[in-house]
Amino acid sequence: MRFVNSFKDKMTKFNEEHKLKYYIDTMGCQLNENDSLKYAGILESMGFVPGTEEDSNVYLFNTCCIRENAENTLFGRLGMLKKKKLTEDNIYICIVGCMTQQEHILEKIKKSYRFVDVVLGTSCMSIFPEKLYNAVVNSQRKLEYIDVSNTLEEEVPIKYTDKYKASVSIIYGCNNFCTYCIVPYVRGRERSRNPQDILADISRLAQDGYKEIMLLGQNVNSYGNDFTGENEGYGFAKLLQDIEKIDGIEIIRFISPHPKDFNDDVIETIRNSKKIARQVHLPLQSGNSDVLKAMNRKYTKERFLEVANKLKTIPDISLSTDIIVGFPGETEEQFLDTLDVVRNVGFDQIYMFIYSPREGTIGAKMEDHTPYEEKVDRLERLKALYEEMLPKLNEAMVGKTYKVLVEGKSKTNDNMYTGRSSQNKVVIFEADDSLIGKVVDIRIDSQHLWYLKGTIV
Ligand code: SAH
Ligand code: SF4
Ligand code: F3S
Repeated sequence: MRFVNSFKDKMTKFNEEHKLKYYIDTMGCQLNENDSLKYAGILESMGFVPGTEEDSNVYLFNTCCIRENAENTLFGRLGMLKKKKLTEDNIYICIVGCMTQQEHILEKIKKSYRFVDVVLGTSCMSIFPEKLYNAVVNSQRKLEYIDVSNTLEEEVPIKYTDKYKASVSIIYGCNNFCTYCIVPYVRGRERSRNPQDILADISRLAQDGYKEIMLLGQNVNSYGNDFTGENEGYGFAKLLQDIEKIDGIEIIRFISPHPKDFNDDVIETIRNSKKIARQVHLPLQSGNSDVLKAMNRKYTKERFLEVANKLKTIPDISLSTDIIVGFPGETEEQFLDTLDVVRNVGFDQIYMFIYSPREGTIGAKMEDHTPYEEKVDRLERLKALYEEMLPKLNEAMVGKTYKVLVEGKSKTNDNMYTGRSSQNKVVIFEADDSLIGKVVDIRIDSQHLWYLKGTIV
């Protein structure tokens, strides 16, 4: 479905006089960040201008509900805005994104946060202009809307803030129903964008000078599984190969692949590519096969290690992962399996979480006897192992030369510049402004846990 904004002209005219400002507060993952760029694109196409957290008129909260603290964040921020809304003119509050797809949240907003103007779910940017126009021009507030349409919206205006790196969504939704996870309930079923649309977007970005593309999806390697007709059989490996051919794009990244779908054709595509980053995010979640089964992850400890080891045969590859500790019923012994996999693989980055029960998921109904303090202790031990291993992984990079996209001046050291290597490591080095946005070769001189120091060669 093509995005059409029939309120654009009317709203722009209104804004020529009123010059309303907008502020977007994004919670959650990179998919939400990408959606926020689209909301910014829509708002600016209607004459709204960027404002600050203090001086704006339209406040848009793009919400997340992956863990409980994400919810608390929203209600805290709404509480802070209430006074502004009730005492000043021309203040409009919009809530969009994953949280609004949950009935109990919608009820809570209707009951306790009646000053909110617009509430929209995921996948309904097409109706955002109308709801916003009605709120601003006709003082209409619409709180009962919840979208479950699972549409796929193309040609939504998008406002990138970065000049050299751009994210591009390739697949929306998730079919996996991992038992701890709320995403399939709030983002709907998998919908892959047509390769023609994706390749056209990326070609345009390349012409605009973008060097690095991040492909986004909850499960990027099930891209294309839902195709019928002319695109049937077109999958993630083929998409990567076609993006590789686009002149100007130098680095291709993607997040997140699911270990169960990590086929050899994708691994070989990475190996043979000159552009795909030497970094793969491979979410482990748990290293114990029984816990993985209870999580409905559809792979075992052995299968995970097989995929990780195959990936590690690609020279200079770096692996990152997500791990949940304290899933209902996880025993100490089972947790030790997670540490065992971490020790075995050697991840350069680990995003670690304590399990957070999500209403409506199967996991939330499972018995859980592990005290919270014990879960915190497991998290601490995982963190300690990771920090013990990281210097050795970094050390292996010292003396070697890597391609780095120069991003700009270092925030902490005025004479130095910063960028990321293909392995997604932060590298600090001496350079000058003329190199910003260019990919340079850097020899690594030393490691400093969270960053590396190097010299341009
Ligand atoms: N689609 C991605 C994950 C997206 S959510 C994948 O399958 O890897 C990002 C991460 O949040 C997950 O990998 C998981 O580690 C964590 N997560 C999801 N639900 C959670 C929950 N209920 N409690 C704690 N962590 C959770
Ligand atoms: Fe959630 Fe699993 Fe889907 Fe990832 S694959 S979004 S963890 S249900
Ligand atoms: Fe959160 Fe939705 Fe992403 S729940 S993690 S913003 S898909």
